[in-house]
Amino acid sequence: MSDRLFIFDTTLRDGEQVPGCQLNTIEKIEVAKALEDLGVDIIEAGFPISSPGDFESVVEISKAVTWPVICGLTRAVRKDIDVAADALRYARKKRIHTGIGTSFYHIHYKLNSNPDEILERAVEAVKYSKKLVEDVEFYAEDAGRSDNEYLARVIEAVIKAGATVVNIPDTTGYCLPEEFGAKIKYLVENVKGIDKVVISTHCHNDLGMATANTIAGIMNGARQAEVTINGIGERAGNTSLEEVVMILKSRHKVLGVDTNIRTQNIYHTSRLVSTLMNMPVQPNKAVVGRNAFAHSSGIHQDGVLKHRENYEIMDPRDVGVNESSILLTARSGRAALSHRLELLGFKLDKEKLNKVYEEFLKLADKKKEIRDDDIALLVGDATRQEKRIKLDFLQVVAGKTLVPTATIRLDIAGEKFNATSSGNGPVDAAINAVKQIIHRQVILDEFLIQAITRGSDDVGKVHIQVEYEHNIYHGFGAHTDIITASVEAFLDALNKLPMIED
Ligand code: KIV
Ligand code: ZN
Repeated sequence: MSDRLFIFDTTLRDGEQVPGCQLNTIEKIEVAKALEDLGVDIIEAGFPISSPGDFESVVEISKAVTWPVICGLTRAVRKDIDVAADALRYARKKRIHTGIGTSFYHIHYKLNSNPDEILERAVEAVKYSKKLVEDVEFYAEDAGRSDNEYLARVIEAVIKAGATVVNIPDTTGYCLPEEFGAKIKYLVENVKGIDKVVISTHCHNDLGMATANTIAGIMNGARQAEVTINGIGERAGNTSLEEVVMILKSRHKVLGVDTNIRTQNIYHTSRLVSTLMNMPVQPNKAVVGRNAFAHSSGIHQDGVLKHRENYEIMDPRDVGVNESSILLTARSGRAALSHRLELLGFKLDKEKLNKVYEEFLKLADKKKEIRDDDIALLVGDATRQEKRIKLDFLQVVAGKTLVPTATIRLDIAGEKFNATSSGNGPVDAAINAVKQIIHRQVILDEFLIQAITRGSDDVGKVHIQVEYEHNIYHGFGAHTDIITASVEAFLDALNKLPMIED
């Protein structure tokens, strides 16, 4: 058995299914290129039949990327497979990822079918895909809860039909690591022809066991892991690329499995995905969290200074965390900013650098020290497209004994509109003032405020979910003034409403 693990990245497909994380095609190409630089073997670029946007992204990523295999997801349905093959037409190396549910739940309650019929549909989908592309991966959805004997029958049949990779997803994140490892072992030992194909894991994190299950799969013979950057994905997410890769690197003596990942690119890729998807990385996230290499207690600091390995099992530089000795403040010049951007892996042209520098100076006036997370945000703002509705002016009066009142001016496609409104707090007053101008029945469903770094001078991030005519829209805003951030997030969501964009 080969001791090389293929890294199959599904940030742009499974990861992108997260509400509020949708990217446009240009942003997806940027992520795909970063994944190529990172050294992933396969990029799952989308689910082409699901929307024209997904189709276009798969086409454009196929053109933009050279080395990785580009993969498109399908159901076990001919039309899906035809559309995926069409979307992949420009890919230098292409793969169709087709499959069907194999658990009792999926067979009976989702597909309203029976085991024999599902097996037939699985084989038919692989045979049909095989007519269009050489490389066909089959997924047995909910394999984690599927009966091992039946699963083995399906896997053997799809291998016979021409599958090159067989994916065993723990779709609901239900398995214990020992169970998942045993499932892979069972397939290795009981499926004829399995030595001719690659076994893949695809573990979800509903019970926090995605990485453990993936490693258990690898220890029992899986040689492809399906992962996402920062572990983003449906519900509690997928397996984190960075965790799997760094476990294999740090515990190489025990596991003896290698990947092609350039680990020094991990931190940059993590921050790029977090910035573009407006999905903060939790501070204590393994490998890429802000605190992953921060030692705060005196005993730990002392221990690390005496010998780094007293408390560090990984060298931060191995994942691209370059603790810079240059503090970025209001006195820092363009060169210092440009140097830090390069360290973080952002390549900006002169115009964007100027824009980021302008915003950097404004922020540095309000905040003593600019941290890497702040810079990632500024880059995100500078590269986002111009919005139709913009905040032109905002003034809020609030206090313990005052009625919170907001006065606002919006610029809508070049025309200015003013409103003043009160509310039960300053944010409510400001949102009410916006609503007066836009005259739409928009319902605010969710509102999340977070501080990004630390201190009362911090940049606040606001995520918003609104409902309009039974559709859900997400918005994001970031500012040192939390009321401005809230209004920016609300406007970001409003800019996505079809009636306003038209
Ligand atoms: O979780 C899952 O089972 C999937 C499949 C479509 C591969 O995402
Ligand atoms: Zn999945």
